[in-house]
Amino acid sequence: MSGLFVFDAYGTLFDVHSAVSRHAADVGPQAERLSELWRTKQLEYTWVRTLVGRYADFQELTEESLDYAAARCGGLNAITRARLLAAYAELSPFPEVRGVLKGLRYRGIKTAILSNGTPNMLAKAVSSAGLEGLFDAILSVDPLKIYKTAPAAYELVGRQFGTKPDEVTFLSSNRWDIAGATAFGFASIWVNRMGLPDEYAELAPKAVVKSLEALLV
Ligand code: LAC
Repeated sequence: MSGLFVFDAYGTLFDVHSAVSRHAADVGPQAERLSELWRTKQLEYTWVRTLVGRYADFQELTEESLDYAAARCGGLNAITRARLLAAYAELSPFPEVRGVLKGLRYRGIKTAILSNGTPNMLAKAVSSAGLEGLFDAILSVDPLKIYKTAPAAYELVGRQFGTKPDEVTFLSSNRWDIAGATAFGFASIWVNRMGLPDEYAELAPKAVVKSLEALLV
């Protein structure tokens, strides 16, 4: 394993569905569908905006995609909308995250985040999850005004650490992100928490794990 582990943030370190879970009763019977649509649309907006060259930051896309999902699921009142966005700013980390980061760092491995989130969103997510001090760098695509899977997004890691792509172990629960990272040349590990079917066969990860705990075995 290489000496630098770079993590995707949303879905990999932070549970994106924890925002709706916390307010499921207020959202109503379509809570699960709303959460799925929210995430799917948020990601679609990143890809379309990157392809057409019209960047809007991840906070804006998070709000626009919530509004779309709400419109598809019978609407949301203003208070619930505000609560969901506040919860999205302070998502729950997956239970093993803190222990795994500490364990990796104890072994002398450097750790970083590479995310579509804005610097502000990432700083808030990291501090509310109690993960401050556990990363050598928190890298956001925001200064580039493009999103993953554009190769320039993955280049941020080498610019920060002076590494060649194959010296970087990249972890994501998002299979599309693994495809992008693998195409870029990272040694990628897919965190397939949900047991999802594989995709992008020719852009395969080096390993597949069910949770980040496998990194310490
Ligand atoms: C991230 C999202 C898109 O880049 O998972 O953190």
